[in-house]
Amino acid sequence: MALSIDSTVTLNNGVEMPMFGLGTYQTPSGKEAENAVQWALEAGYRAIDTAALYGNEAEVGKVVQSGIMPRDDVFVTSKVWVNDLSYEGTKKAFDRTMKLMGFDTLDLYLIHWPVNDWQGAWRALEEIYESGRVRAIGVSNFLQHHLDELFRLANIPPTVNQVELHPYLQLPDLRAFCDEHDIKVTCWAPLMKGRVLEVPELVEIGEKYDKSAVQVTLRWMLQVGLLTIPKSTKKPRIVSNADIFDFELSASDIETINGLDREHRIGIHPDHF
Ligand SMILES: NC(=O)c1ccc[n+]([C@@H]2O[C@H](COP(=O)([O-])OP(=O)(O)OC[C@H]3O[C@@H](n4cnc5c(N)ncnc54)[C@H](OP(=O)(O)O)[C@@H]3O)[C@@H](O)[C@H]2O)c1
Repeated sequence: MALSIDSTVTLNNGVEMPMFGLGTYQTPSGKEAENAVQWALEAGYRAIDTAALYGNEAEVGKVVQSGIMPRDDVFVTSKVWVNDLSYEGTKKAFDRTMKLMGFDTLDLYLIHWPVNDWQGAWRALEEIYESGRVRAIGVSNFLQHHLDELFRLANIPPTVNQVELHPYLQLPDLRAFCDEHDIKVTCWAPLMKGRVLEVPELVEIGEKYDKSAVQVTLRWMLQVGLLTIPKSTKKPRIVSNADIFDFELSASDIETINGLDREHRIGIHPDHF
């Protein structure tokens, strides 16, 4: 079926998760966060990514429940920050997140980084999941060795691994491993923080379709089966970043983008956090 802004993937527990959403890291709390989420929902976005760290969970919760669209039609992800990574700490952190958001049920809750007692935190996530207060649980910034350890101790497998991923960091081995274990991969920093606009190959491909390098990058992610959450606080960018459903990259353009990988990280390596 053709991709649309409503396209979803089925997580390994049967829950449907939209492939395309809004990121909110460094989106200031208050009016800026409210506006960004509102503009995104009005532009058709069906997923919002936040985290305790970002300080805007309350705004995300407020706008998602403001009636722009039914609560059940929006998929909200949040994450437990590293300071709270222990069994008890994570249970308390989840309660704080839910209070701030004002939700009965969160869609997806992730361990933000594989540090501190993330193993204890996973036990807490499993219990929260079993209580029905979250529809799916997963991880972020997990490398294969972290996932191997998680599989040894988990009763419930993670549904999602959210990692830095963009044309210059494509992680083919980690993606293959996640595929094999039915874990969906979400790309953070999908736009290389805006720097995809400086990648000549992406600009050149975009010219063929009358699209920007940003739009080409986001379209590439969806066509190769990756989930993506570009962040912006600016209305025109929030709208144009989602204007990627009226063209299709050719197989050879996909190959060209696949060939841009140079294992270049913008953020910190998960083993060096
Ligand atoms: N799990 C993790 O550890 C982790 C880490 C980082 C991020 N994330 C999540 O992933 C999301 C995306 O990553 P990110 O925010 O780091 O980076 P990103 O989405 O790659 O880039 C965001 C930057 O690009 C700019 N931008 C957005 N659209 C643009 C456009 N059309 N043209 C030019 N510039 C544009 C934004 O500026 P303006 O806002 O000024 O438009 C912002 O500076 C985050 O917001 C967060 O939800 C997760």
